[in-house]
Amino acid sequence: MRIVFIGPPGAGKGTQSVRLAERLSIPHLSTGDLLREACRLGTPIGKQADEFMQTGRLVPDDLVQEILVERLEEEDCQNGYVLDGFPRTVAQAENLDEMLAEHGMPLNLAMEIRVEYGLLLRRLVERGRDDDTLDVIKKRLQQYNDLTKPLLDYYQQRDVLHVIDGHDSPEEVFERIVTVVENQRIKK
Ligand code: AP5
Repeated sequence: MRIVFIGPPGAGKGTQSVRLAERLSIPHLSTGDLLREACRLGTPIGKQADEFMQTGRLVPDDLVQEILVERLEEEDCQNGYVLDGFPRTVAQAENLDEMLAEHGMPLNLAMEIRVEYGLLLRRLVERGRDDDTLDVIKKRLQQYNDLTKPLLDYYQQRDVLHVIDGHDSPEEVFERIVTVVENQRIKK
């Protein structure tokens, strides 16, 4: 299966997509993790991405796509994957669709995790990653509203979007996600 997770910072994309990938025995691919690793290693992409990430802005599409395409071409991705934090713009979604169409493989599901603003802020402030300072969190949330939300219409129109209530415990949220995946498998 090929599944993408969409949601604002702090919605639980990472938490849930790691679990789901493990349950389905397919790789979990987080563009945030790939970019942080590139920054840590000081690769050319990492050096360019760093300033965007530190300030809560989306990294330009071409850089993110370059880093992801490399990973998607690896052997372990040929039977499916769970994408965490990609796509994040309509242009990225179109690019992914083109890539999938070239290989005759459809996207099976887009999961939107919804959580209200105040809870997102609380979760992120409590976690305290490098980009979890209040100013940067607010910028990330604003970028989500401005640049990523239009993706929801994109996937709604393609009839693959499922909305998951992300307010409850990680276990309860995961059960909701598994139900959607199981229903999708039955339909196939
Ligand atoms: P990325 O690493 O993807 O960060 P993000 O989208 O800001 O998401 P977070 O990791 O903050 O939140 P999450 O939804 O994964 O929640 P999590 O499970 O971690 O991206 C970082 C940066 O990289 C971006 O700002 C951008 O610059 C760049 N980037 C990445 N992808 C890009 C792309 N495609 N295009 C352009 N730029 C890109 O949970 C958060 C906290 O809440 C944790 O402490 C967790 O334990 C807790 N939690 C989760 N679920 C629950 C729950 N149900 N109950 C209680 N606590 C919970």
